[in-house]
Amino acid sequence: QSLLYYIEDIPKAELHIHIEGTLEPELMFKLAERNGIKLEGTVSSHKDRRQTFKNLQDFLDLYYEACSVLKEEEDFFDLMNAYLQKAAHDSVLVAEIFFDPQTHTERGVPFETVINGLHRGLCHGYQHYNIKGSLILCFLRHLSEDEAIKTLKEAMPHLDKIIGVGLDSGEVGNPPEKFEKVFSMARDLGLQVVAHAGEEGGPEYITGALDCLKAKRIDHGVQCLSSDELVSSLVARKIPLTVCPLSNIKLQVASRYFNGASPVKQLLDKGLLVTINSDDPAYFGGYINANFVQAVKDCKLTAKDVFNICRNAFNATFLPLVEKEYYL
Ligand code: ADE
Ligand code: ZN
Repeated sequence: QSLLYYIEDIPKAELHIHIEGTLEPELMFKLAERNGIKLEGTVSSHKDRRQTFKNLQDFLDLYYEACSVLKEEEDFFDLMNAYLQKAAHDSVLVAEIFFDPQTHTERGVPFETVINGLHRGLCHGYQHYNIKGSLILCFLRHLSEDEAIKTLKEAMPHLDKIIGVGLDSGEVGNPPEKFEKVFSMARDLGLQVVAHAGEEGGPEYITGALDCLKAKRIDHGVQCLSSDELVSSLVARKIPLTVCPLSNIKLQVASRYFNGASPVKQLLDKGLLVTINSDDPAYFGGYINANFVQAVKDCKLTAKDVFNICRNAFNATFLPLVEKEYYL
């Protein structure tokens, strides 16, 4: 019981959150109305559709469809503001937030509209909620590398608003090696690198993200547990994993190796730098505190474990060292 209060209050850094994954059905319907878009169903039927997913792709189909209500700069601002309000409530002090520009530019929404709305939302959030937020541009791995390069070029005039690049969407069949060139270009621009790997894909996707893309953090990474050699390497290289307990459970990623429970305990026991994050909270049943609660429940974590996980996250941020030390 007191552990629940501890989880609520302890300062947190959120390192794995897709801003599009924070689009709650209520806001979705509000934006649809504002933009003259007719949606099928009701808020409540959309909530029902988000109850269970067969796998990652089953979720992604719904997630991309929901994005169709995001059209104007103000929509992206409102989306960011709604998330930061919730994050503040969950004692988040630092948030490094993913966005998927290709989901929007493919529908004819200009890159500028997306980034300006999100960035303005972050500035507003810093002023009103004191959350230090930044943006990580994710390339959609089901699209081609040429399309990723085109997106990076669109981002060039906005490099002051982006701290890094990531890689998301359907993993299996779209290995990191497909994006070697665009990540090399991004690194040359001084951008930080992360990548989703080892969510549904095997350990070789994690190795590829590290060696080929030079990722500094691995998003999910839970499938490393099937390779002792990879685990040792992740420990030795001090690579943080941004684990998302509710996501793993809802997408049935956890079921294959971990009997449906969050694998946080096994990862901690191996000495890995685990962090706990929310991924797509509007779809998976809760924001960052709910993810901590789930992990504590599944893994019988102690207050000390929770503290270490939070400290790992501040350590794993891309904040400049002097700023990072302030939180540690
Ligand atoms: N895009 C949004 N959430 C994702 C996830 N969990 N894995 C891959 N791509 C995503
Ligand atoms: Zn993710």
